[in-house]
Amino acid sequence: MSDELFESFSGLIYSLCGIFLPLRKKSMLTSRLLKRLSALNFRSLQEYYDFLLSPSGRSEEIIKMIDLVTTNKTDFFRDERQFNFLSSEVLPVLANGKKLSAGNRLNIWSAGCSTGEEPYTIAIVLSEFCGRNNLENSFLITGTDISTKVLEAARAGVYRDETVLTLPRHILLKYFTKKKISGREEYHVSLELKKYIKILRFNLMENDFKPMNNMDIIYCRNVIIYFDKQTQKALFEKFHACLKNGGYLFIGSSESLFNITDKFRMIAPSVYVKV
Ligand SMILES: C[S@@+](CC[C@H](N)C(=O)[O-])C[C@H]1O[C@@H](n2cnc3c(N)ncnc32)[C@H](O)[C@@H]1O
Repeated sequence: MSDELFESFSGLIYSLCGIFLPLRKKSMLTSRLLKRLSALNFRSLQEYYDFLLSPSGRSEEIIKMIDLVTTNKTDFFRDERQFNFLSSEVLPVLANGKKLSAGNRLNIWSAGCSTGEEPYTIAIVLSEFCGRNNLENSFLITGTDISTKVLEAARAGVYRDETVLTLPRHILLKYFTKKKISGREEYHVSLELKKYIKILRFNLMENDFKPMNNMDIIYCRNVIIYFDKQTQKALFEKFHACLKNGGYLFIGSSESLFNITDKFRMIAPSVYVKV
């Protein structure tokens, strides 16, 4: 693809989902887009680009293109230290303040939840905490992403054995059902756990974040690395508005709020409180 065509694609992707692609990502983008080219029988990426801008391209193909350009890597208990911190430091404070109690539902948002490992991990940690402390499971975790493909997987909550391999055995037995489908073992998240999870499509570039208001905790991990500074600044303004006073924000371990916003106070590596 020519540098000029790359600029057109990257400009379109940036305007749709905030993902910033510098020129060095050209071969990565080309190889991802070529998959659609052969599926649709187009002869060139220029033809594919023109189709994306056409009325039928705009209505359906754009969604498929976004599926291809997003990077969806995730894991259960990714960066385990953060989940230990949630369980040992954050949840006791919220439970003492009656924010996690029978009369009060705790609202948690996993923004950029990919295939669901993150919201299910949060649900497991909360459920274990409530069990240990004789509390009712009074929480709702909303997992959102822009990619429809990963959202389907998150809703299904079905994982291969290599994905759940790292989970402690007692957790696997308690929260998953093993099924053998055409000779292959699959782990299905229990319906009991799924009750506490809602999966929605939500673009973090939306202007209106009102549907996500009143959050006690926001997880947005390994998402802002794909955004430029200007987009990150705007996003944290909106996260700040969505969080209740004293609400918590978890970001990825390689990410930082330095020079982005001073509206959050760091209380542990990659963990912040709204000020
Ligand atoms: C690398 S995954 C991170 C998954 C999970 N949070 C974790 O840390 O394991 C990044 C996710 O962000 C999503 N994403 C990227 N841009 C987005 C946007 N504008 N709105 C919503 N989700 C977006 C991608 O589709 C992808 O699933």
